[in-house]
Amino acid sequence: MSTIESTPLVPAQGIPPAGRSTAIESMDAYRALVAEAAQDHEAFWARLAREHLTWRRPFTQILNDRDAPFYKWFEDGELNASYNCLDRNLASGNANKTAIIFESDDGRVSTVTYQALYHRVCRLANALRARGVKKGDRVVIYLPMSVEGVVAMQACARIGAPHCVVFGGFSAKSLHERITNVGAVAIITADEQVRAGKTLPLKSIVDEALAMGGTDAVKTVVIYRRTGGRIPWIGGRDAWLHELENDQPDTCEPEWVSAEHPLFVLYTSGSTGAPKGVQHSTGGYLLWAAVTMKWTFDIKPDDVFWCTADIGWITGHTYICYGPTAVGATQVIFEGVPTYPNAGRFWDMIERHKVSIFYTAPTAIRSLIKSAEADRAVHPGSFDLSTLRILGTVGEPINPSAWNWYSEHVGGGKCPVLDTFWQTETGGHMITPLPGVTPLVPGSCTLPLPGIDAAIVDETGNEVPNGQGGVLVIRKPWPSMIRTVWGNPDRFRNGYYPEELGGNLYLAGDGAIRDADTGYFTITGRVDDVLNVSGHRMGTMEIESALSACPLVAEAAVVGRPDETFGEAIVAFVVLKGPRPTGTDVKRIADELRAWVGKEIGPIAKPKEIRFGDAMPKTRSGKVVRRMLRSVAKGEEVSQDTSTVENPQVIAQFADPA
Ligand code: WT7
Repeated sequence: MSTIESTPLVPAQGIPPAGRSTAIESMDAYRALVAEAAQDHEAFWARLAREHLTWRRPFTQILNDRDAPFYKWFEDGELNASYNCLDRNLASGNANKTAIIFESDDGRVSTVTYQALYHRVCRLANALRARGVKKGDRVVIYLPMSVEGVVAMQACARIGAPHCVVFGGFSAKSLHERITNVGAVAIITADEQVRAGKTLPLKSIVDEALAMGGTDAVKTVVIYRRTGGRIPWIGGRDAWLHELENDQPDTCEPEWVSAEHPLFVLYTSGSTGAPKGVQHSTGGYLLWAAVTMKWTFDIKPDDVFWCTADIGWITGHTYICYGPTAVGATQVIFEGVPTYPNAGRFWDMIERHKVSIFYTAPTAIRSLIKSAEADRAVHPGSFDLSTLRILGTVGEPINPSAWNWYSEHVGGGKCPVLDTFWQTETGGHMITPLPGVTPLVPGSCTLPLPGIDAAIVDETGNEVPNGQGGVLVIRKPWPSMIRTVWGNPDRFRNGYYPEELGGNLYLAGDGAIRDADTGYFTITGRVDDVLNVSGHRMGTMEIESALSACPLVAEAAVVGRPDETFGEAIVAFVVLKGPRPTGTDVKRIADELRAWVGKEIGPIAKPKEIRFGDAMPKTRSGKVVRRMLRSVAKGEEVSQDTSTVENPQVIAQFADPA
């Protein structure tokens, strides 16, 4: 940290209004916290855990590293996440405060107070219990963005049933894979989902998934009536959410659980194999959700917070369901998409709901820039965004030009833009500027939060000097870290604490570099076969196996190509069992394969481009030359040495995309 002091940096923007200070009010205060953690890591975290969470039974143990890297935090402490997010607000005078401002796809607005949210959560928690769901049972949630999404997650937390939220854009097959892998006993879904005026039959997709077999443990399907559209019904198993709620008392004794009790499992993509279930704890996870709301977002009682993520991703878990409620904030939850009815939707909503803290993905910003530049009516400059004081981004690198546009046109040049780096596995923010405090550099996530011991190392685990790139690691365990990969502890150990790095460094999977002068971190992108498309993580192998499962396909290889708007685009190289298509067949078969991938995984995994060849370019030992495919995808002349390739003549065939 010593380098920070001496560096001339861009001034910190958006120092909050006079008379108010931020949670961490200065670089000196930041440095003091970093020093406190460095001096006694455990004592630092214990202090935060006592200050920011309400414990039923105080913990006496802090970190248990006897079974490292399966770290445990505050293990003998007992608490309940929903108690911390709901009851605690009732006790502190927030009962009548608006917890959620919900806006539907078609613009209808409703609000829910903390008191009302509490009662809804209690009713559903009671209903789940009445249906036999007990502590430790897993519940899959497959819901649109809704108040009900938060109610469902919090109800599971209340009874100690780990939830597993599946993004509504995943197919029946992906849903089935998650239901069986996590061993769900109940599913909470909606009749239909509505986005951009179009409906998607969620309940039918659930039925389709449950019909795929191996799902006998699922005894209950709870359905939130969103549209009233016709749905298939299985008596005894299916139940309307509103009917269940009506039948139940509006209070519910929480299940007090160990801090280590799993709060949820959330699937994410890795470089190999099927998606992995990232398991999070109750205590450590909730602690960081609450603390980062204060430190990073500087949340204050009168703020209106809006995170545009979906609850199907970690951002929606930490910065919609748990973080804002743990600190008693008012937040906006939006059902729809940023471009419907037009690309001014975000700006219009910020104006109408007087949003003060706005958190979104670089892809959304980049696509809205295009629209704003083409049509003044949807330009942020056409809206009153004066309530904004802090802007954030997450999910992928943000290019300096998008950062500057966001800062100038959305933030009016007065709001700090926080480029927050973190992952599903980290539970909450890891490396991020502090608003009004950290001098900002577009394109850099700046410095680790206090207590987060981030470093950049070479392939053997040795720290590299600033200015030299390497892989990002976290040296010390932290409370909100992933606990294990559900049902696959070896995958957790080998994937995140690899032997090559000495077995004691958490490997993030991203490349990074620290600035020689400031020590600031810049994330350079994944170093494994994980793609980042619009801030969504996709494994190349997953898409390859989906394609290979298609009866038309003999072999497939998938790579990412940099994309101006979406960060990365999926490019698939395909060899058919039949002859290489020509003429109009190229597009017809490509469309068929895209639809296939949509069915196998979900629309988000559909390749942007599909290229056909007679055979896959391979080395003499039979390995697909991905390096070359990446160049071909970028439209580069394959100038690399092709002498190691068995069949270099096929490379040219892949030059044209469909
Ligand atoms: C991967 C994690 C964190 C919640 C949403 C994504 C990339 C994330 C940034 C950032 C550059 C970023 C990394 C990371 N990423 N934030 N600010 N700058 N890259 O969570 O799906 O688990 O993906 O997203 O590659 O490893 P996720």
